Amino acid sequence: MGLGALALLLSILLGWAGSHPIPERKSFNKLLLISFDGFRWNYDQDVDTPNMDRLAREGVKAKYLTPPFVTMTSPSHFTIISGRWIEDHGVIHNMMFNTETGWKYSFKTTQNKTEWWDNGVLPLWITAQRQGRKTASFHYPGGGAKYQGEAVQRSLVESYTHPDSNETEWRENIDIVMNWFTQEDFDFVTLYYGEPDNVGHLFGPETERRRVIIQQIDRTIGYLVEAIERHGLTDHLNVIITSDHGMTTVKKKPNVTEILLTNYIKFSDLVKFHIVDYGGFGMILPKPGKEEILFQTLKNAHPHLHVYRKDEFPERFHYAKHERVLPILVYADSGYNINAQLIIYFNKGDHGFDNDLMDMKTIFRAFGPDFKKNYLAEPFDSIHIYPLMCKLLGITPEPHNGSLAITQEMLTDSSSQQPGEETLGSSVFRNTAIGLGTFVGILTVLFVIAVTYTAVQRKKK
Ligand SMILES: *[C@@H]1O[C@H](CO)[C@@H](O)[C@H](O)[C@H]1NC(C)=O
Ligand SMILES: *[C@@H]1O[C@H](CO)[C@@H](O)[C@H](O)[C@H]1NC(C)=O
Ligand SMILES: *[C@@H]1O[C@H](CO)[C@@H](O)[C@H](O)[C@H]1NC(C)=O
Ligand SMILES: *[C@@H]1O[C@H](CO)[C@@H](O)[C@H](O)[C@H]1NC(C)=O
Ligand SMILES: [Zn+2]
Repeated sequence: MGLGALALLLSILLGWAGSHPIPERKSFNKLLLISFDGFRWNYDQDVDTPNMDRLAREGVKAKYLTPPFVTMTSPSHFTIISGRWIEDHGVIHNMMFNTETGWKYSFKTTQNKTEWWDNGVLPLWITAQRQGRKTASFHYPGGGAKYQGEAVQRSLVESYTHPDSNETEWRENIDIVMNWFTQEDFDFVTLYYGEPDNVGHLFGPETERRRVIIQQIDRTIGYLVEAIERHGLTDHLNVIITSDHGMTTVKKKPNVTEILLTNYIKFSDLVKFHIVDYGGFGMILPKPGKEEILFQTLKNAHPHLHVYRKDEFPERFHYAKHERVLPILVYADSGYNINAQLIIYFNKGDHGFDNDLMDMKTIFRAFGPDFKKNYLAEPFDSIHIYPLMCKLLGITPEPHNGSLAITQEMLTDSSSQQPGEETLGSSVFRNTAIGLGTFVGILTVLFVIAVTYTAVQRKKK
């Protein structure tokens, strides 16, 4: 073997090393976010929930979670998925409305309406996709819209006739999601269930029917844990289980004086458009020149009704700044529904009330390879879930109103570093390490070849 052969061998070796970089191990685990609509923080305390109890021991449980105001489904879900206050993301109500035409679109109808959701704030699906993650939404509010022209890679939108509480279908949905993770390598999936909200509205939160649906949810969570094991995902999938708001019993006559706005104001004279009759919160667009008289008349109308001009709405709600919010806002004390001209509202339970009220608080549970075990977290605002999810997925977050500092203690690796925030020191060190490694590798190869060559030459002699 001559020097020419040696050079050839060397170039082949180096070429091989160059064109076959060692595949980088994925530095993040998959993430499943599940929301059970209207799951009040203490719903598991008056009913047997063995699976949720087990999860608390094997993962993280927050004492409770504070949703944003207004405590409604679409606004709250969009805060979870974007980390932004409602006045920033603009999904200010479950109902989409047009004050010119007077049209109102229901929660389900809005699910396909991009113009209701896409207000310049990006939900995590889109941000994650742009950073190379594969994402999907299963019935999660907002998952059916396009953002800056981009759709969620896989999105199922709840149909008008979708049953809320079919346990068999609940399990099938879990199987579908598990297959998305294992067979199609999705990284981030959001899964939404319409219970226990539906039962809470229909029968009220302090009823046997509500306790029964909580047991159904608990069995479903048990099924989820089994499915994760069956699919070999136990060490690769983090799960967050949360919700959008709580529920309180609606107060009715003769026990209380119900709030009926037409008792105080003449709608045809003062009101151009309103979005009232949806629980404990409403907004009114006065007729031109009628704002002051409307405000003054309503202000002290009912002892349990709070009336504000838009620019005086309490700052702590982070709600009123958005341009969609109408000039007069009204909200009621716990359990008082606000009715416009008729009491047509038959709900026994409702939400939409002040997010400081304990009945509006909701749940946060988490488990998986990156979460501590048997960790009881202090209560926190749902706005902080977003940076936590970004951290878990290795995503650089968009500007947001949350803070990873609030939630990072839940993680086994609770260093606060976000991906993309790699410090100069660590990247210099890493690059130096890679450089040194390569250099030492080449030297070793040269040394081995040189020794072999010398040995062969000696033998020949
Ligand atoms: C949303 O759009 C899909 C596809 O066009 C359609 O099948 C579905 O019925 C729509 N759902 C709603 C709630 O409008
Ligand atoms: C519940 O869902 C299963 C599976 O989707 C379906 O076969 C069954 O008919 C449903 N049951 C009811 C009562 O709708
Ligand atoms: C009135 O209050 C009583 C006692 O709390 C309760 O049992 C009853 O259901 C209430 N009635 C209505 C109509 O809310
Ligand atoms: C929420 O975050 C956005 C984006 O960073 C910012 O513009 C806004 O002022 C923040 N809101 C509050 C109340 O801090
Ligand atoms: Zn509801």
